[in-house]
Amino acid sequence: MTISFITAPGATFDNLVVPLAADQIDDAVLRAIETTAGQAFPLLMKDFKAEPGEVFMQYTPNGRLFLLGLGKQPGFSDVLRAFRSFSFKYKQKLTSRLHLSLLHCHADDYVQWLEAAVNGLSVGTYQVGKYKSENSNEHPLETPGAHLSVWTNDADTAPLAKAADRGLQIADTQMRIFDLVNAPGNKKSPASLAAWAVESGNKYGYRVAVYDKEQITDMGLEALLAVNRGSEDPAYFIVMEYGPKGERHLPLIGLVGKGVTFDTGGLSIKPSANMHYMKSDMGGAAAVFGAFEAAARLQLPVHLVGVVPSTDNSVDALSLKPGDVIGSYSGKTIEVIDTDAEGRLILADGLAYIIRNYNPQVVIDLATLTGSAVRTFGYHAGALFANSDALAETLTKAGDQTGERLWRLPIWDAYKDDIKSDIADVRNFSGKPTAGAIAAAKFLEAFIGDHPNWAHLDIAGVAYNDTEYASQKAATAFGIRLLLRFFEIWNPK
Ligand code: BES
Ligand code: ZN
Ligand code: ZN
Repeated sequence: MTISFITAPGATFDNLVVPLAADQIDDAVLRAIETTAGQAFPLLMKDFKAEPGEVFMQYTPNGRLFLLGLGKQPGFSDVLRAFRSFSFKYKQKLTSRLHLSLLHCHADDYVQWLEAAVNGLSVGTYQVGKYKSENSNEHPLETPGAHLSVWTNDADTAPLAKAADRGLQIADTQMRIFDLVNAPGNKKSPASLAAWAVESGNKYGYRVAVYDKEQITDMGLEALLAVNRGSEDPAYFIVMEYGPKGERHLPLIGLVGKGVTFDTGGLSIKPSANMHYMKSDMGGAAAVFGAFEAAARLQLPVHLVGVVPSTDNSVDALSLKPGDVIGSYSGKTIEVIDTDAEGRLILADGLAYIIRNYNPQVVIDLATLTGSAVRTFGYHAGALFANSDALAETLTKAGDQTGERLWRLPIWDAYKDDIKSDIADVRNFSGKPTAGAIAAAKFLEAFIGDHPNWAHLDIAGVAYNDTEYASQKAATAFGIRLLLRFFEIWNPK
């Protein structure tokens, strides 16, 4: 989709979308819209309340007019959500030429609104049916000639153009991440995740090193290898680094993502009812990949190092058995009470590795880690754990601003008993049905040494969820926008 800016729009349009906040509609705005439409519609206009996502469509002498409700005092994520669902729901009505009027937006953050609008319009074109034999209709805004004309009063359109471009680039990366997460377990593997990262790094300019099973063995990533024991597909360990030239003085931000390409539970096998969701158990890795790709595309002034341990968790004669004691990269021994608590094992190696080899100023891991996080927050927030209040506050803020919400849970030492083992340094499961997400965080904490700035995001409930573009649960790319915003607002003291 190409984008241009128009300060003096012509009289007609194929399709015009006018976003309106509920607290902003007055007679003057309505009259201006009627003038644009070349038609008065007094009664209908009274009905339009600009509720979040509400759409009023009218065939006017000048073209198809859509009023799009944003709700009261909409923020970035409200605008984003309204446009995303508009783009998806009205795909049949839209054509490849869309006009977007910003003439009635009095928002302070007008430029950010445009980024949200363009991102939403673009993400709304996503098609989930990758494996259907017949392609369903292409979204008109995805066709080669697709064009968006933005109506604005601003003479200097450069900031708007930059915001719109940002919206488009992030949308493209988000959709590539949807593809990765939505791919079934038999269409992805640790090797294909590694290949994705290498290709993305080459294309957008960040360094990717891929370590195979032999190298992983030499490196001593014993917990990752243990989870991979029962797998047909060998494990990979993916390390990424991004930093624009001349900006190496920036504080290093470390990201670790859980890359389990399918989680059967291993010998502690999962019930079959929802096992198919476990193709999304690499949602943490996907967020890290997406954040790297987007940061590189946008040439953000940040210095990032990322680590993705990747394997599936399978059932086999060689599989890890409940009760086994394994080693780990950190040197600590682990009693594996439950082989379904595999994410924390591979993250333990990822965290210890990134801290020992890169010592980042801040380390954030993202993982679809526990059913407990889903039971706690449902599908509306990720669980946040941090050993630094400043880090927790900044991440929470980034989540609120992007609509990818986080809520903090404690990691008090009162929970330490949950990971105490009689025969090894730690155990991976308490055996109790309580405080599962917290116990998992306590386990991870045992592998960060004395690092003072670590956060763990348990995104089990939010990485794979209800979306506009699919009738069943599907990928959300949760974490990309959150991390991008975090990079912007993280101000180390
Ligand atoms: N991948 C799962 C967690 C999960 C659950 C993600 C639901 C997305 C939706 C993880 O590996 C797991 O199986 N966790 C177990 C741990 C337990 C055995 C200690 C869980 O939460 O039940
Ligand atoms: Zn599991
Ligand atoms: Zn898992």
